[in-house]
Parts: sequence; C-alpha cells; structure tokens
Amino acid sequence: MSDRVPVIAGNWKMNPAPGDFSALISDLRASIASIEGVERVVCPPFVYLGSTRDLLLGCDIGVGAQDCFWHDYGAYTGEISAAMLSALAIGYVIIGHSERRQYFGETDETVKLKTEAAIEKDLKPIVCVGETLAQREAGETEAVLTMQISGGLRGVKLPQGAIVAYEPVWAIGTGQAASPEQANEACGMIRGLIAQDHGEDIAASLRILYGGSVNAANAGSFLSTPEVDGALVGGASLKASDFAEIVKAALP
Ligand code: PGA
Repeated sequence: MSDRVPVIAGNWKMNPAPGDFSALISDLRASIASIEGVERVVCPPFVYLGSTRDLLLGCDIGVGAQDCFWHDYGAYTGEISAAMLSALAIGYVIIGHSERRQYFGETDETVKLKTEAAIEKDLKPIVCVGETLAQREAGETEAVLTMQISGGLRGVKLPQGAIVAYEPVWAIGTGQAASPEQANEACGMIRGLIAQDHGEDIAASLRILYGGSVNAANAGSFLSTPEVDGALVGGASLKASDFAEIVKAALP
C-alpha cells in the first residue's frame, strides 16, 4: 500500500448553469467537507472561481482552474495567467486536458510552459495525458504517453507529490471507462516515464489519477489498483452525492 495521499478532483468543465451553482457548492460542502485522508478538489469554470473559494472557506477542499496562461500579465486577450490564479489563492490547475488539446490547440509545448508557470506560482498542476481510441487500437498507447510525458514535463522541476491524470480520450464522457487493469497498466507506464526523466523519488511520490467515465459505482475498482492514486471526475462531479461516494472510495 503506498503512502501517497489520494486525490479526487472534480472537473466541472463548462458547467453548471449559474442558477445551479450555489446548490452544487453547498451540497458538496455538506457531503465532502468532513472526509479526511483524501485531497479533494473542485475545478469550476473561471467565472465561479472566486465565489467557489469564498463559499468553501474554512473547509479543506481545494479549488482549481481548468487552464492557465504562462505569461503573468499583458496583451493576451481572453487569457488568465497562473499569476492571477495564484493571487486569487486558487490552489490547483488542470493543464493539457484532452478537450483543450482537441478543440483549442493545446500542445505538449504549451502544456510544458503552463506547467512551469503553475509550479513557479505555487499552484499544483494536474497534467492530463492519454491516447485516442485509434491510437490504442493501433498499439500506440505507450508511444503516445511517452511523447506527452516527455514533451510536456521533461526539464520541468516537478515537486514531491505532483499530480498527473491518465485520461484515455475514448473513455471521457462516453460511459465507456477503461478497465481497472488498463488504467493500472497505463498509470504504471507513466510512473516509469517520470522515473526516467525526474528520478525514482519524484516518481514514487507522484499521484496519478485515472479519468474517464469514473462514477460512484466504478471508482473503487480503479482506486484499489496499485498505480492509481485518485480520480479526475467529469460528469459525476456535478452531483454532490456521487462525488462524495467517489471521495469515500479513495479512503485508505
Ligand atoms: P468524465 O470526464 O468523467 O465525464 O468522463 C472526465 C474528464 O474529462 O476529466
């Protein structure tokens, strides 16, 4: 059994509608605030970050953004910097989510710049990697993970307990989760790649989350595998009772 503290992060994506925000936050607060031994994080859209931080004040639930830009300030219309998030006392940031890679031109180079900026500003990046269905079927999973991990993280000074999320693109939002064996195998590959580039110590402390159709019913099967240290949860993080079940499944 590893002594890595598990992480359950909710990626709200572009949800919820403004009218549903307060209820979601107060339900979450009520259902997960008192659970200890699991790092719990919610990642709402930028417009809700300040209110989320305020409404969760005093309970040990982290708040994360879903992206950041590497320059601190300047003429970059529409961007939000790691410096700004840090000044808002936001603790985490998702970087390189496959939806950003697919729809918004995110590359391993921009992942690296964002991750460096986040670490420099004392944010905890949650760096996402994962293969598409075509890549898995072509037997390219390991090659893709190798490229993403080296392209996005080689040369970055990762802290102890850094967070990477393995999210196979074919499992995201599809209801078709990977099997626990597939998740464990891919997370093991990621740990090995991190060991090569960053040393055994950093690799042993790395928290690797599985993401892709995680729900209250299947979370335990991933979290009980040796290489999976948590979950990055999309759809099921928008229902407080489901998210709370997933958090509980991560309890040692
Ligand atoms: P999902 O999304 O849980 O809805 O599949 C996961 C993610 O995209 O982080």
